[in-house]
Amino acid sequence: MDTKIYKPKSFDLSGLNGISDQTLEMHFKLYEGYVTNTNTLTERIAAILSDGKVDQEEMPAYSELTRRLGFEYNGMVLHEYYFGNMKRQGGGDAARGSKFREAVERSYPGYDIWKTDFVGIGKMRGVGWAICYLDPNTGHISNHWITLHETGNVSGFVPLLVMDVWEHAFLLDYKPADRPKYIEAFLSNVDWDSVESRLNAAAPATAAR
Ligand SMILES: [Fe+2]
Repeated sequence: MDTKIYKPKSFDLSGLNGISDQTLEMHFKLYEGYVTNTNTLTERIAAILSDGKVDQEEMPAYSELTRRLGFEYNGMVLHEYYFGNMKRQGGGDAARGSKFREAVERSYPGYDIWKTDFVGIGKMRGVGWAICYLDPNTGHISNHWITLHETGNVSGFVPLLVMDVWEHAFLLDYKPADRPKYIEAFLSNVDWDSVESRLNAAAPATAAR
């Protein structure tokens, strides 16, 4: 057996618009914490299982470690999607004629309504994420609110555009009440090529419909 150990990925994002390098450095450190904790929890759960049983004394720790694994694992993965869908000189709108844009127009009354929905979800009170997902079975896309990292993700759906709206994502640059300014900054850095390639990788057949 080969236990999976994750290594933090690195992202070259300095010089974004409206999201400072200081914020990014702090955010990368937080992300690395999720990677470390995912590895640690995985190892600790494996250690409990190593004698082939979970006995009564182990059950409380085993349960708590397993619950935390969902939080840490999603925290790791969502940050990779988030950093991976930004770049310098990004932003604007998804290109007309792109597969993502076509998927938006199949799934919403129009691109502007999709965008209003995505931004609206980002402004929701609470700690979490706004995520635009692809349903690989239908080729449709839909926007979702994720509480913390792990509540609200739809099983089997593929994240295409991922926006962190935890306060740590913007608190060094904006006041807590100015989350809309951060959302605007995020959108001005979106790497639409990365969104498009996620769509292509997930559902080449449905994306081409
Ligand atoms: Fe974050």
